[in-house]
Amino acid sequence: MNKANVVLVSEESALIRAVEVVAATGATTVLVAGDESEVRAAWRNAGVVLVGEDMAGRVGGWGLSRRAEVFLVGVEPSQELCRWSIPLDAAVVALSQGSASLAGIIAGRSGDEDRGVVVAVRAASGGVGASTLAAGMCLAAVARGRSAALVDGDPRSGGIDLLMGAEKIPGWRWPKLASAQGHVADITSMLPVAAGVTILSCARREDSSVSAVARRAVVGALSRHRDLVVVDAGRVEDWRDVAGVTVLVSDQSIRSVAAGVELAWDGHVGLAVRREGNVGAAGVAKALGLPLVATVPTVKSLAQMADGGVPPDGGRAWRKACATVVDWAMGVGRGD
Ligand SMILES: Nc1ncnc2c1ncn2[C@@H]1O[C@H](COP(=O)(O)OP(=O)(O)OP(=O)(O)O)[C@@H](O)[C@H]1O
Ligand SMILES: [Mg+2]
Repeated sequence: MNKANVVLVSEESALIRAVEVVAATGATTVLVAGDESEVRAAWRNAGVVLVGEDMAGRVGGWGLSRRAEVFLVGVEPSQELCRWSIPLDAAVVALSQGSASLAGIIAGRSGDEDRGVVVAVRAASGGVGASTLAAGMCLAAVARGRSAALVDGDPRSGGIDLLMGAEKIPGWRWPKLASAQGHVADITSMLPVAAGVTILSCARREDSSVSAVARRAVVGALSRHRDLVVVDAGRVEDWRDVAGVTVLVSDQSIRSVAAGVELAWDGHVGLAVRREGNVGAAGVAKALGLPLVATVPTVKSLAQMADGGVPPDGGRAWRKACATVVDWAMGVGRGD
């Protein structure tokens, strides 16, 4: 990219100054555009277009075609700014969160190369503990200093925020993102966080079904800002279109194994076996034709935690099983 080819659309002198300071650290000049004809020309020719928060609504109303490398720049990641990111197909950059990402964008690095790993957790049959394991994986990643997002992938579930004790924490749920498409902004600042995990949950009183386009856009956005994105896919959805890695959770019952055999797979798939039932874990893996990644102990107190609105913690052996699944998933997801 031609370094000089960065255009900032803004009339706000403080914002212009702040962006110019960041650009100067990389010896780059930013051209400032304000009126519609200048912006239309920049839309066609500039390598990077930065739209200031003061101009987001106006630019959004000009009916410009979608293009890559458009960023909305504001001081704080406000709801208003995020609202324009979808029509403009632009990621949000907040100056309050430090200048590193803006400096990278101006230098021609949009950050897409550092994507996190997206893992779908599927359940062979009902109640085997798939949602709890998905939550435990995120908690294990956070405990190791990684950033993690937990995504509710089953619109019929009760809401994964309940399982994390986050149902009262304000923030966006799936219905707010149902129309997302393309290159969605960093929405992480709009989502609830519990125990260090960013949570995208279904809503209980609204329709949380999501199109394939929206889920690709939203999970893609999360994976640009989190090391690990775990989608609790449940039993019906498979999320194969967004997840590079799948973990199937089964218990040791004939019923689960029989149901698991019916599922179809693509890509990297590993098995986590909940220690409950009469079939040996190796036998479950053999019957399903999947590599056994971990066995998950049965811990009675997990059910009380779920009902008490406390993030799951089933003790050392359970945490270790969750961490083993994360290590495997991140390893195969990154191609190690
Ligand atoms: N390792 C475990 N040991 C004991 N109980 C567990 C364990 N994991 C989950 N549970 C409990 O089992 C119940 C079902 O767990 P969970 O919701 O995680 O399963 P699921 O497979 O996602 O079920 P669903 O089919 O409803 O989506 C909950 O009460 C949960 O607290
Ligand atoms: Mg579940």
